[in-house]
Amino acid sequence: MREVAIVGAGMTRFGELWNQSLRDMFVEAAAGALNDAGADRLDTIYVGCMSGGQFVGQEHLGPLMADHLGMNGVAAVHVESACASGGVALRQAFIDVASGMSDLVLAAGIEKMTDGADVTNVLATAADQELEVYHGVTFPGLYAMIARAHMQAYGTTEEDLAWVSVKNHRHGAMNEKAQFPGEVTLEQVMASSMVAEPLRLLHCSPVSDGAAAVLLCPLDQAGQYTDRPVKIVGSGLATSSLALAEREDPAFLDSVQLSAERAYKMAGVGPRDIQLAEVHDCFSIAEICCIEALGFVEKGKGGPAAKDGLTTIGGRIPVNTSGGLKSKGHPVGATGVAQTIEIFRQLRGEAGGRQVENARLGLAQNMGGSGASSVIHIFQGV
Ligand code: COA
Repeated sequence: MREVAIVGAGMTRFGELWNQSLRDMFVEAAAGALNDAGADRLDTIYVGCMSGGQFVGQEHLGPLMADHLGMNGVAAVHVESACASGGVALRQAFIDVASGMSDLVLAAGIEKMTDGADVTNVLATAADQELEVYHGVTFPGLYAMIARAHMQAYGTTEEDLAWVSVKNHRHGAMNEKAQFPGEVTLEQVMASSMVAEPLRLLHCSPVSDGAAAVLLCPLDQAGQYTDRPVKIVGSGLATSSLALAEREDPAFLDSVQLSAERAYKMAGVGPRDIQLAEVHDCFSIAEICCIEALGFVEKGKGGPAAKDGLTTIGGRIPVNTSGGLKSKGHPVGATGVAQTIEIFRQLRGEAGGRQVENARLGLAQNMGGSGASSVIHIFQGV
């Protein structure tokens, strides 16, 4: 396997982007990544997107995006794994470059959710139709069940959940690309309207549009594009049952643990070596479960992590320095690539006010559905 580096990154602002179509957002992000690296050609494009078909009626995204980037003829394909589509697109790009098949590969993530689709029901297609959705439950309800299970098993409180949102909005306030960059207080979170008990509006990631892209090449060619490449040193993908009821423990994300084990093994590191992480906080409880499954805290001990400052910038393991899905936004297919860009910027010392000092090793964890798929990458500054 060849060593692989990221040499350029580009993304749109996240939010309700009325004036940009799916293809416009892709081109802004992809051209941003190419310009960042001073590159003007590509061998392959991977386009992560959960559901162009249902959100905006557009499938066949590989050739469409290649064409609109002015790269007609380039190998290009759509990658789907629900909200983990962006992270899986990155993994495919990594495998492509590592294998020696391609030298210059774009991993992109895109989603256009605010154009009038029945968003909650489209998102619910990533849950188990027969065992969950036919009975009326959608994602806020599924994550509410995870939260209840965690509260019952470990005494996690509504205040613990709320602190995750407070912390992520505090980080997101320093991110000019974030959809909701304002800080929120504990009182505001605790008083926000109930969505699915115990999850309130301010525990939920929003509905978003956006795109993100990164450019990969073999490490030994990275000098042609940048003097600050970031190496991908580990990659892990794992799956679990779609239906929560089929899992041994609904309060534990086994696919996250398994994908982490694989990524740590490839990188030759453990959770204690990671200096910062972007994790999939689609609902506040998800961040709590993810930091446990990643091994940053013991099982059952994730509840107070945000309140205690462990996961804040300046804490032992800063989590979601970008603002996370909660504050930055969650255009589902774009999220995994946007997480990667945050780690890329941090490891190059380009994160401005939210810079983690001396960051050398970072992790991005991206998840599909209620954790039926999880993809993790570990990155090292060179
Ligand atoms: N965080 C902060 N503010 C938010 C917000 C969020 N997540 N979502 C909406 N808002 C704001 C809006 O800007 C709006 O403010 P305004 O009245 O000043 O304009 C207000 O709160 C109400 O927004 P609205 O869009 O009407 O809310 P909604 O009830 O239609 O949707 C949720 C709220 C939480 C149900 C929706 O964002 C949601 O479904 N989120 C989860 C998405 C999801 O499941 N993703 C996949 C995860 S697996």
